[in-house]
Amino acid sequence: MYIVMVSAELAPVAKVGGLADVVFGLSRELEVRGHAVEIILPKYDCMWHDEIWGLHKIWENLWVPWYGSGISCSVWFGFVHGRKCFFIEPHSQDNFFHRGSFYGFHDDPLRFAFFCKATMEFILKSNKRPDIIHCHDWQTGLVPVLLYEIYARLGMDRQRVVYTIHNFKHQGVTGEAVLWATGLCRPEYYFHHDRLLDNFNHTAINLMKGGIVYSNYVNTVSPHHSWEARFSDQGYGLEQTLAIHHYKFGGILNGVDYDVWNPEIDRFIPSHYNVWNVEGKYGNKDALRDRLWLRKEYKPIVAYVGRLDAQKGVHLIQHAMFYALERGAQFVLLGAGGDRGINNHFWHLKHYLNDNSDCHMEIGFNEQLAHLIYAGADICVVPSLFEPCGLAQMIAMRYGSVPVVRAVGGLVDTVFDRDHSDRPLEERNGYVFHDADFRGIESALSRAIGLWFDYPKEFRRLISNAMSADYSWGQSGGHYLAIYEATRCR
Ligand code: ADP
Ligand code: GLC
Repeated sequence: MYIVMVSAELAPVAKVGGLADVVFGLSRELEVRGHAVEIILPKYDCMWHDEIWGLHKIWENLWVPWYGSGISCSVWFGFVHGRKCFFIEPHSQDNFFHRGSFYGFHDDPLRFAFFCKATMEFILKSNKRPDIIHCHDWQTGLVPVLLYEIYARLGMDRQRVVYTIHNFKHQGVTGEAVLWATGLCRPEYYFHHDRLLDNFNHTAINLMKGGIVYSNYVNTVSPHHSWEARFSDQGYGLEQTLAIHHYKFGGILNGVDYDVWNPEIDRFIPSHYNVWNVEGKYGNKDALRDRLWLRKEYKPIVAYVGRLDAQKGVHLIQHAMFYALERGAQFVLLGAGGDRGINNHFWHLKHYLNDNSDCHMEIGFNEQLAHLIYAGADICVVPSLFEPCGLAQMIAMRYGSVPVVRAVGGLVDTVFDRDHSDRPLEERNGYVFHDADFRGIESALSRAIGLWFDYPKEFRRLISNAMSADYSWGQSGGHYLAIYEATRCR
């Protein structure tokens, strides 16, 4: 099969969160299984260019209709760790992708609407005719709309779209300008319940809703979250749309790319190890302490790696930090966020704890340090308020860091409580709590820290269970392929 991925992120070159890892990992898995995969991305100025091989311009003057006129684009090609990638670079005063960061601008809906339009023009004019166009999140929701309403008639009538929703919270709710800009026009047609009209704001369209309505198949990134999105409030207002389109909606658990996240060969950690030789892990604990100026004492390291966003349960992260310190553990945090208030809050905490040699907070994005933390920590907390899948807990397990998670979304599908799960003992791989309050997280974290101090052998067994769990792309890749097969045009 021939699959084109359209995404705003790709690890490691343009990564904000798990979306980037998923697009990379799934693409690799599909290629390994013998399918042709190409990835289309914006050409951001802030990409990690060192990780792109052979980047060169393959198209000059790709004319992309935009409002009544158009914008000329260059298209670049390069390999990202073997993946074939096309990068779209518009030349206009809007500077859509030359802003120094990936998101966070007032015209984000327009920036990514342009990306969708340019992607369709590129596919059309370069005569690519993939079986499946696989789009991700709100940024690419307009691709199936454009395909169905415009491009099918121009020669792309056999292309089918699979649309993966990684996060319902961000939907791309915007005004009618996007319609005029992309040539869809006809606001009276699109401002309709059955099409793009936002379910709450009747003066706005919703790009994610467009993705759901117009795609041939829609999924979110874990089975449990697909249930939450439909039957709780976690569809963020799209519950009704999902109910209407339920026959083409499902949940497929993300995988983790075990070539990128592998403590046996990880290029970012000094001491390699595996489940049969967990001793090697402690070389990384030492290295982590050296790097972050933590004192070397007989204590577990509890870590948080992730975005600093309300989704992640920031009050619980903060509480986990003080609670861990109180219980005689060390705490390491690596996080960055788009929200200035939350960022400032964590900067204040960082200053407050500056002299504490049992605690280190690193505020920013740092891929290498993330690897070292997963390898060096004993326990990783993921106390999310909602979590469509969550990769952090799966990566942590791969590195033998025991996850302490809240029972939501994909965390329910991947972490099984050591004491309370009904799974067989050897499948229990962490600690789970339910209530999003201090008592909730304490109930799980205290058991994890307690086991580390009081029953080290049992803790080792838990590490071994966590490392043995298989969350590679093997299974999930197969699920996506089955969906592609069922969806493609014959
Ligand atoms: P989300 O996609 O909601 O951010 P996931 O758990 O699915 O959450 O994926 C997060 C990914 O981003 C993981 O690979 C994690 O290691 C990485 N990550 C998050 N924050 C940082 C950071 N500040 N520095 C480095 N890597 C980070
Ligand atoms: C999102 C979700 C996260 C998921 C990731 C990759 O950002 O917040 O739970 O793992 O996408 O699908």
